[in-house]
Amino acid sequence: MRERVGWAPEMALILGSGLGRLAEAADETTVVPAAEIPGYPESTVEGHSGKLVFGALEDTRVVFVQGRVHLYEGYPVQKIAMPVRLVHALGADRMLVTNSAGGINRTFDPGTLMFITSHLNMAFASPGVGAGAGPARQRSDEEQAPFYEPGWTSRAEQVALDLGLDARRGTYAWTLGPSYETKAEVRALEQLGADAVGMSTVPEVIQAHQLGMAVLGLSTITNPAAGLAPGGLDHDEVLEVSERVRGDLMKLVRGIVRVADA
Ligand code: 6GU
Repeated sequence: MRERVGWAPEMALILGSGLGRLAEAADETTVVPAAEIPGYPESTVEGHSGKLVFGALEDTRVVFVQGRVHLYEGYPVQKIAMPVRLVHALGADRMLVTNSAGGINRTFDPGTLMFITSHLNMAFASPGVGAGAGPARQRSDEEQAPFYEPGWTSRAEQVALDLGLDARRGTYAWTLGPSYETKAEVRALEQLGADAVGMSTVPEVIQAHQLGMAVLGLSTITNPAAGLAPGGLDHDEVLEVSERVRGDLMKLVRGIVRVADA
């Protein structure tokens, strides 16, 4: 892959659902389909073919990871995190990870952008599990080595402010899925301190942290979690919200790349 691309990416951008088109913003791209990468987890969701897109964004050499896989697709969690190990081996020491999530914090309306400052691992799975593993940084010294880089997050927050965006901070709860939460589970997650809930991101973040990468996490709140709004989960609303914030998100992501190591 190094030979094929010809240069090393500095940063990886893991694109969540509805954000795939962000990769179109990059210049000078080399595209590597997931199917051509040995050991790469292929998305089993129709129309979500995986690929790596290498290019320049805001004068930074980046690799977009499109078509992530989820624990609910039946892959082992180590396999889900394989693309992170790959982009790190290719040279990336920073990772922006994006997702769509349900809002639990009652002040987070659909369309709110949320910088992830911590997470709740409610899938109780880790890509660090395996022969030879011992208690690791990923739990014992979050203070010394935070999962989500505080400096990068603060600079990104300032970018959002300058753009006039409604961006907040919060804790992301990772659930196995594929079912959405029950109302009882949402009430429990709220009591545990979650601001948003989704089915991705945390395995990639744990892997990146273990490799010493700097991570920034960004959620788009697309809908209220179960029981927090009348009428239930409306898929059309989710799509409409994703569409509505896409332009803002693109601008924000560009700014996040610009201030990565300011
Ligand atoms: Cl309500 N729950 C989960 N687990 N993931 C989501 C969501 C809710 N809304 C968008 N993604």
